[in-house]
Amino acid sequence: MGRFYLTTPIYYVNDAPHVGHAYCTVNADALARWHRLSGDSTKFLTGTDEHGQKVADAAVKNGVDPQTWTDQTSRRFREAWDALDISYDDFIRTTEPRHTETVQKFLTAIYENGYLYKDVYSGLYCVSCEDYFTLEASDEGQCPIHHRPLTEMSEENWFFRLSAFEDRLLEYYEEHPGFVTPETKRNEAVSFVKGGLRDISITRTSIDWGIPVPWDPGHVFYVWYDALINYLTAIGYGRDDDQVEEWWPASHHLIGKEIIRFHCVWWPAMCMAAGLDPVSHVQVHGWLLVGGQKLSKTMAAEGGVRLTDIAPVVLTDEFGVDPLRYYLVRETALGNDGEFSHEGITARYNTDLANNLGNLVARVSTVVGAKCDAQSLIPGRDTELRTEAERAIDLARRAWERFAPSQALEATWGLIGATNAYLERHAPWKMESGKELDAVMADALESIRLVSILISPVMPSVAQEIWRRLTLEGSPTDSPQDESLVWGLYRARGPLSKGEPLFPRIRSDE
Ligand code: MSP
Repeated sequence: MGRFYLTTPIYYVNDAPHVGHAYCTVNADALARWHRLSGDSTKFLTGTDEHGQKVADAAVKNGVDPQTWTDQTSRRFREAWDALDISYDDFIRTTEPRHTETVQKFLTAIYENGYLYKDVYSGLYCVSCEDYFTLEASDEGQCPIHHRPLTEMSEENWFFRLSAFEDRLLEYYEEHPGFVTPETKRNEAVSFVKGGLRDISITRTSIDWGIPVPWDPGHVFYVWYDALINYLTAIGYGRDDDQVEEWWPASHHLIGKEIIRFHCVWWPAMCMAAGLDPVSHVQVHGWLLVGGQKLSKTMAAEGGVRLTDIAPVVLTDEFGVDPLRYYLVRETALGNDGEFSHEGITARYNTDLANNLGNLVARVSTVVGAKCDAQSLIPGRDTELRTEAERAIDLARRAWERFAPSQALEATWGLIGATNAYLERHAPWKMESGKELDAVMADALESIRLVSILISPVMPSVAQEIWRRLTLEGSPTDSPQDESLVWGLYRARGPLSKGEPLFPRIRSDE
């Protein structure tokens, strides 16, 4: 049993949450739930990134002041996460006083260590990215991500000597091969550093919607510089050293692939400059695409995707909370890009949930309800299903440990498939009541008990409902998984009955 500190990126509050944000947050939630189930002392952090030009512009456009705007939009993120049953332990907002305090302390440490200097910056800027581009890195003067014209900016700023960290960063990558996963994304970060690092401008005078620079009034910190530090705010940096000691640096950031440079280059260098060890692990994920395009407010504004139709809360109404969570985790493994579509979610729902899992629970409950005394059923010792179950548990455990929740589900569905095949072979619906039937059904029930624990990080309510239908005591997450994911523990507390379908089929024309 250990400690597990996991963070999502903090989301910009220029607009409402969309299913791309949900993809990251749900996967993180599943990982956090798995680690809690493993008995790890767990801290799961998410939140909102509220400063910067983009958010200030959104407030003006909506005719309110930035604080009112961020209050409203940050609330929409919390509402979406509540609707998706996200079990975050802390929700950070970068406009909170605790964050200002940590940012100012952290950056003052960097300043005092001699890594900041003042200079004039001129460059091409994309407000949607809140990032500068060189002409070469741009798409003929347009942002390569948002395909909009970049604007020329020039101001006197404080600069961070990122260039001083090239060797130390490469050394850090070398000594910590697991720092960035998957490997392809690690290589991306390494080649970025090898390509040569330029110092970065970290303050602004052109806007005032940001955290004031303590040693130079009139400057506020650049939004990315304040945002990255949120991971330390939540564990009390500059306010509670014991807590930092407890959670840092053995922590995990789950991030999307377009923000690798910030998290895998800037952030470790910032930590080094402040005299702190960098975070030990960054897990990168790809994008959910719709019609081949990354979801974003900016894209939606250009036509095509109607973000409101696929808002997380709309989708939970349509498919249910746990089915949506299942689809987001199962369909697109962390690291890959995936396509989000109604057809895709409907297909997963009907096949994996209704046909495989739902049908398994229904047929077992029906036979046991009609032909067995459930309370006398005890799983067998050395049976064919036991071997299948132990194999699946082992695969799933290893998948969770290497940040591969989709594969953990794949292994679990392997067990569901094996149990359905086992039932087909024995055809208990044709058998007479008696010892032989009892033996078949006790093993099938035990397999379902294990499945219910294995799915609980992704489908907590469904797992609980299956547990209840099996008439088991308490809930699937009451004991640590190394005690509960052990063959042979099924004991019914009452008779079983067929019950309503767990996943009523969705017709494809609906
Ligand atoms: N505010 C910064 C992060 C600061 S973290 C210190 C930011 N915000 S964001 O709202 O634009 O994006 C937050 C995360 O959402 C990113 O990791 C991004 O990859 C993810 N996603 C946004 N759209 C996405 C998809 N369409 N698919 C999957 N994830 C995507 O960047």
